[in-house]
Amino acid sequence: MSGLFITLEGPEGAGKSTNRDYLATRLREQGIDVLLTREPGGTPLAERVRELLLAPSEEPMAADTELLLVFAARAQHLAQVICPALARGAVVLCDRFTDATYAYQGGGRGLSEVRIEVLENFVQDTLRPDLTLVFDLPVEVGLARAAARGRLDRFEQEGQSFFEAVRQTYLRRAALQPQRYYILDAAQSLAGVQQALDNLLPQLLERVRG
Ligand SMILES: Nc1ncnc2c1ncn2[C@@H]1O[C@H](COP(=O)(O)OP(=O)(O)O)[C@@H](O)[C@H]1O
Ligand SMILES: [Mg+2]
Repeated sequence: MSGLFITLEGPEGAGKSTNRDYLATRLREQGIDVLLTREPGGTPLAERVRELLLAPSEEPMAADTELLLVFAARAQHLAQVICPALARGAVVLCDRFTDATYAYQGGGRGLSEVRIEVLENFVQDTLRPDLTLVFDLPVEVGLARAAARGRLDRFEQEGQSFFEAVRQTYLRRAALQPQRYYILDAAQSLAGVQQALDNLLPQLLERVRG
């Protein structure tokens, strides 16, 4: 038996965390075993790596260091949490995964996609999400929501052009593999987004129950 691996992607303030919790509630109502997790992080050790990645610091972090830390945390998360959950047949709802690496370290920082792909294959072997929900919205809207939340982390401090590249990378990847991605209009009301998730639910349940 193997579960279903669903990732939620999009920029800061897109509504990933809010809607991950919403989707978990809807699935659990149907008696489904759901594991909620996030990246970077998801285990105590990987959460420590997350702190390194997010904390603003005096010493600039080299882009390659950032990339390797992201994948180091991911290797730990896969080994300790994601793979065991999928093996027991759970639905894993993960707030960000490797698409975020392509978007932030690739699009945002300008690292080559080929190098990211090498690490993706190294750390994940053939594992890829079964479904990726992309919460898409104009950059200003997301940044305004994130700013309203309080102090900005190292990524949130980046500017408009960084997040424009993040957004375009997500959309480009989704367009290349439309069967794996589902793009949601995250600028609409929360009720509207949740209606879109409700519409997706029957098809998710069908996939879980095989
Ligand atoms: N569709 C929406 N419309 C308006 N506000 C929203 C919407 N989705 C989320 N929010 C609000 O925006 C903020 C960021 O949402 P969050 O789920 O934390 O985003 P993310 O995890 O993608 O950074 C929260 O205060 C949340 O209540
Ligand atoms: Mg969040």
